[in-house]
Amino acid sequence: MNNEYDNEGFFNQYAQMPRSRDGLTAAGEWHQLKPLFPALQGKSVLDLGCGYGWHCRFAAEQGAERVLGIDLSEKMISEAKKRNGEPGIEYRVCGIEEYGYPENTWDCVVSNLALHYIEDIRQIFQKAHHTLTPGGIFLLNMEHPVFTAGVGQDWLYTEAGVPWCWPVDQYFMPGERKTHFLGCDVRKQHHTLTQILMGLLNSGFTLEAVKEAEPPVEMLDLPGMRDELRRPMMLLVRARKT
Ligand SMILES: C[S@@+](CC[C@H](N)C(=O)[O-])C[C@H]1O[C@@H](n2cnc3c(N)ncnc32)[C@H](O)[C@@H]1O
Repeated sequence: MNNEYDNEGFFNQYAQMPRSRDGLTAAGEWHQLKPLFPALQGKSVLDLGCGYGWHCRFAAEQGAERVLGIDLSEKMISEAKKRNGEPGIEYRVCGIEEYGYPENTWDCVVSNLALHYIEDIRQIFQKAHHTLTPGGIFLLNMEHPVFTAGVGQDWLYTEAGVPWCWPVDQYFMPGERKTHFLGCDVRKQHHTLTQILMGLLNSGFTLEAVKEAEPPVEMLDLPGMRDELRRPMMLLVRARKT
């Protein structure tokens, strides 16, 4: 399987993003995601699409006993080992679709900004449910359907080059979207809100929290951040295996 994150140019651009340089505190969604984590002392945590491994490190710092981060990209996994290779964390090059999901194994499954790359998301919800221990938490943050629906996933601009409005189009046509991000053509998958939330419910989860990412007040003066209040970019869900 091919992955843009193994493309040298894309990988280098990604490395320049504030979240790549400074970690979780530079991520606009962290102030909403962090409180959704369950207590992790002595627990086991699986991170789907772990990237540099920031959430794996957070889990280890919270006292998690066993942490596994999987990612399709060799470059991202090698970076994770360098930056966030605390004892007790294992990193593995492995696709979210290919992982074995052993039964009743993980107390918490987390996935941050990776599931919008997955075509058959329902299957991953079922596998996450299968691999969680009873009462375990699936914590996910993925690009919001309002963000992913539009054909180019970009603003429409005024003649002066100012973002005018965000086009939502082909909403009920889930599937591949060809986007341009960090100078590269990037393929993502659009899923409707019903597919995501009902997919979790139909997989046996109880929904405990749903949030739409809004940047924290202290980030609002950063370039482009006020525009993040004009449409939701990310959807955060805390679901429990019941
Ligand atoms: C935006 S990054 C997020 C990384 C990390 N979760 C974070 O929040 O810092 C998306 C990650 O998903 C990974 N990814 C994309 N498709 C994947 C797949 N099918 N299986 C595993 N990882 C995948 C990419 O390689 C990349 O590391």
